[in-house]
Parts: sequence; structure tokens; C-alpha cells
Amino acid sequence: MIRNAVVPVAGLGTRLLPATKSQPKEMLPVAKKPIVQYVVEELARNDIDRLLFVTGRGKHSIENHFDRDPELRASLERAKKQDLLDELAFEGIGLSFMYTRQAQQNGLGDAILYGEPFVGHDPFLVALGDSIIGMNGESDIVRRMSQAYSERQAAAVIAVEEVEIEQTRHYGVVQPDGDGDVFAISDLVEKPNPKDAPSNLAIAGRYVFAPLIFDMLRRVQPDKKGEIQLTDAIRMLCATGRRVVGVKLSKREKRYDIGNFASYYETFAEFALADPQYGAEFRERLKKMLAE
Ligand code: UTP
Repeated sequence: MIRNAVVPVAGLGTRLLPATKSQPKEMLPVAKKPIVQYVVEELARNDIDRLLFVTGRGKHSIENHFDRDPELRASLERAKKQDLLDELAFEGIGLSFMYTRQAQQNGLGDAILYGEPFVGHDPFLVALGDSIIGMNGESDIVRRMSQAYSERQAAAVIAVEEVEIEQTRHYGVVQPDGDGDVFAISDLVEKPNPKDAPSNLAIAGRYVFAPLIFDMLRRVQPDKKGEIQLTDAIRMLCATGRRVVGVKLSKREKRYDIGNFASYYETFAEFALADPQYGAEFRERLKKMLAE
């Protein structure tokens, strides 16, 4: 069972400026909660009990969010606001949180390297802090990946989502070697043209790795922007004959990748519509807006 997770949240989030000038994109709210809270809740439901955030400058609000706030609690208790106290239940989620800082934004691969002392010799999960899996983070993909990791004696397990073939140019896409929901991967291609795409299966923000990935990451040459790309390290695993396995997300486990405003707006609307308290009213208001 995989118990350790590395959650990189150090990116600059430039595509979401100005919203992300002084606040991390992972803290942008989607309906009632910040994005990263859905991620943490998903991991807690999937047996993760130790989590390392790889943070950067200006990311303190993430630490504050997962910290207990006794003053706020006392004030809500005095005011007898039990419903609002219930909204803070996640503070007792039971994970142990650790934090480290990426010195420079040298890419996702570089951010993951900061996890090496934390994970030691154990396999670990990488969950992108800006990607929610499933409505309200309801997904057991991590458990399925963990199972595939041990059953297939893999060096890496990657969650993938079926996308429209025209969309492959926005994603890392895998070359499957076999069918089914759990399958071998022989290579990856970063943002291929639809006509060159080896499949329509896009890498979806959750990975399980053996610690061997750190050796590969150290060997990766920085790209034109000076970034260490995680996909290059996974390609090295494939090229050196290590077993890399894909696990498909089911239809009800949509991946919400909140990297740009189009996907942010869409995700917010979808989650707000599903809100048990305000969703129905929001739907009516939207209908009116759209009819105007
Ligand atoms: P993105 O590829 O979306 O990059 O990161 P970004 O820097 O956050 O955003 P843009 O491109 O400037 O708009 C994917 C994930 O990897 C983390 C991000 O925080 C995000 O969770 N990341 C990225 C790091 O931790 N460090 C980096 O150097 C780059």
C-alpha cells in the first residue's frame, strides 16, 4: 500500500495571472473549497497518511489552510455556529503534513526531486496540487494504482484519461502496449499533434513511482526553458526496460486540471452546480443568464 505522497505546488501559475500574483493557484476556490483541499481529501480517502508539499515563495496560505486555527474555532463556538465549525472538519483529517521549498521553479521534475529525503526507499505517490480527480475529488484511482504497482511489480504507474483526439496537443500522451483498464506503457509523447498521437490517453496528474525515478530525474537534461520534465524521466524508465503501467480513469473520474481560465471557469461552474446547498438555485440563475 502506498502511504507517502509528494504534492508539488511550487509552480508560478502564470496562466492564471492576475489571480495568482500573490496567491497560489492551488488555493483558488472551486465552489466552497480551495483546489488543494479536494486533492488532500482524495488522498486521505486513498490510504495516504504522510504528505509532503513542495512549495515556493508566496505559498504560505497552503500551510495556514491545513493548520488548526484555535482562535477561529473559539469564535465560532462562542457564536454557536456549528454549521461553520463543520466546514472546518478537514483540519482533523489525520494526515501528517510536511513542507519543503523548491528553490527555483525549475519544473515539475525538479520539484519532485525535493521529495527524495521524505520518501526514502518506499514507493510514493505524486499528486499535482492543481488537478482534482472526480467530482468533489471522489475517486479511488490512487488505490487502484497502488494495487497495479504491486501486482505488476512496476517502476511507475500513471493515471490516464481518455480525451478527444483533437485535444492531445495539450497533454502528455502515452503509447499503450496492450488494452484494458490497466496496461503496459512503452513510451510517452509530450503534446503531440493529433495525427502523430500514439493514443488518446492523456497523463492525468497522479503517478506512483519507485524511488528509482530520482536517478532518472537527475539524468534528465533541462529543456529550452531550463525545466526538468517529469515525462523525460518516465521515458527513460521505458527506454531502460523498466515496467511502466497505465491505469485508466473511469467515466465518473473526470480530471479537472485547473491550469488556465477556461478550465477554471468550467470546473467552478460544474462544482457549484453540484453543490447540495446552492446548486439548484445557481442552476436557475444560470438558465436565466443564458436565456438573456
Ligand atoms: P504547471 O505545468 O501547470 O506549471 O505545473 P505552473 O508553473 O504551475 O503554471 P504556469 O504554466 O506558469 O501557468 C503543474 C504542477 O507542477 C507544479 C505546479 O505547482 C503544479 O501543481 N510545479 C510546476 C512545481 O511545483 N514546480 C515547478 O517548477 C513547476
